[in-house]
Amino acid sequence: MYYPEEVVEEVRSRNDIVDVIGQYVHLTKKGANYFGLCPFHNEKSPSFSVSASKQIYYCFGCGAGGNVISFLMNYENMSFQEALRTLADRAGVQLPEESMSEEARKKAGERERLLALTKDAAAFYYKMLRSPEGQIGMEYFRKRRLTKETLHSFGLGFAGKSSAVCRYLKEKGYTESEINKAGLVHIDEKRGMRDRFWNRVMFPIMDVNNRVIGFGGRVMGDGEPKYLNSPETPIFDKGRNLYGLNVAKKARKGYMIACEGYMDVISMHQAGFTEAVASLGTAFTENHARILKKYTDDVRLTYDSDNAGVKAAMRAIPILKKVGITTSIIHLEPYKDPDEFIKNLGAEEFQKRIDNAEDSLLFELHVMRRNYDIGKPDGRTKFEQAMSKRLALIDDELERSNYTEAVASEYAIPSDVLKRAVEQARVMSVSADGFAVNGGVTDRMPVVKDKARKEKKPEDGLTKAEKLLLTYITDDPAVYNAVKPYISAEDFSEGLSRTAAENLFQQLENNDFRPAAIISMFDEPEQQKAIAEIFNTKLDEGLNVSEREKALTDLVIRIKRTSLSRMNSGADLIERTVQEKKIMEKLQTIRISL
Ligand code: UTP
Ligand code: MN
Repeated sequence: MYYPEEVVEEVRSRNDIVDVIGQYVHLTKKGANYFGLCPFHNEKSPSFSVSASKQIYYCFGCGAGGNVISFLMNYENMSFQEALRTLADRAGVQLPEESMSEEARKKAGERERLLALTKDAAAFYYKMLRSPEGQIGMEYFRKRRLTKETLHSFGLGFAGKSSAVCRYLKEKGYTESEINKAGLVHIDEKRGMRDRFWNRVMFPIMDVNNRVIGFGGRVMGDGEPKYLNSPETPIFDKGRNLYGLNVAKKARKGYMIACEGYMDVISMHQAGFTEAVASLGTAFTENHARILKKYTDDVRLTYDSDNAGVKAAMRAIPILKKVGITTSIIHLEPYKDPDEFIKNLGAEEFQKRIDNAEDSLLFELHVMRRNYDIGKPDGRTKFEQAMSKRLALIDDELERSNYTEAVASEYAIPSDVLKRAVEQARVMSVSADGFAVNGGVTDRMPVVKDKARKEKKPEDGLTKAEKLLLTYITDDPAVYNAVKPYISAEDFSEGLSRTAAENLFQQLENNDFRPAAIISMFDEPEQQKAIAEIFNTKLDEGLNVSEREKALTDLVIRIKRTSLSRMNSGADLIERTVQEKKIMEKLQTIRISL
């Protein structure tokens, strides 16, 4: 859906960024800006700034930044359309009739209908749990020691013997076809339409924006299947949703916990570990990992301590690693899963287990060890060779060396011997198809290349100068008049700096200062962040007027010098030398006065 620029701009400008962000983040005024704890990374002292005059937010710690629309998109994980609609509602702006294609409109309409339908169904199950018929469900949850608050916050419900959700939804005006599409019924030729869920306690599954998209239903007692889940529907994609993420995304502990089950998430949240999520009765996928990466770089796995759980953990580790998440394993022995653990040992003990989570690579090696009889020289040799191969897969030299030391010490192998074995294995270990042969631990594990950590290139002086000048101007638009005689947008380097300068200067010429509007011109969050940064570079504080003039003069000279030599670069050598001299003379004359 495309909205004209004026509409986007109206919605943006009618929603004050300080008010909107203030609903999510506690902000305190400090100088010209407001500051608070950044909601996009974990921090103890506030480096998240919101500027009322620029209508831009920017975090000096993690670089998150943008305008009020990008804030909602990032914080609430909304699409652009959703953020725009939310803000339009908030400010009472009427959005123009959607100019979607007929088909797109139908599709969006269908999604909205299905979301409304599952929400109504969830309300139905919720009520039924609290009705006389639901007593048995209530009793089940009570036995599992869920509190009233937990039942409420997870919206837990009950589908009775005859359920009747179908009848209820039809009365509400939904068609049989819609109820079927939402996955709430079975249709067979003989018996017609029957409820999929009956005589089960119900777990509504919410997406990250708190919308009900499906259900899990558990038998109360023994029976097959233990959990029955909604099928994939137009609104329910198991590979792209994590149970509990709607709450966990706000926990901001610096790490997240991934577990296997609905009940694990619920007991952890009830015990205060609201950072827990679960994949929905399916294996952990790369999509899940990418979703988690938005919130954290540190995921702790607490899978069941049985063989299946270990296998699932072993599978999840490289998937998480691939997207750049560090993984460790929370051990629950002697209990089976987090739910049982917390019931028996309580939250404090569980926190200790979280704090002592085992490094995922050492965990892999411990699992590997079970396959070898290391009491015998032959078994021990094979195990050590397998470990060398695994260690050889670590690309980063320091990391490889540290792990090698740790392993040598744990397994009492002379460290120089292990080191040599690892280096040798490094040459041999990766087979042609890119899969590692690692002693038959698990199935074949994809080789995960440790991407050379993205080292931030030290910023070059020119880029820095351009950002500083643009920040000076947005902080105080009067600066523009002072620098204008010497510099124009074409003097900025091509790319984001120049685009930012062009648009900003044009606004200032028209007496229409709205830097946040420039952010809306970009679709990519990375570009929006970059623009927010350009307008929010850290300036020296407490300069007096003549010091500020000096600083500005230096910046303008720095930018102008590059720009003039860029323009001069086509000429021949003699011509260039003459020009250079002229340039230097010209630069000498620059004096910014405020
Ligand atoms: P578990 O069998 O470990 O169940 O399955 P649990 O979470 O410990 O459940 P309780 O404590 O017995 O109630 C873990 C997860 O696998 C999925 C569900 O998401 C479940 O939470 N699952 C399991 C199914 O989808 N269907 C099943 O039949 C079993
Ligand atoms: Mn369990």
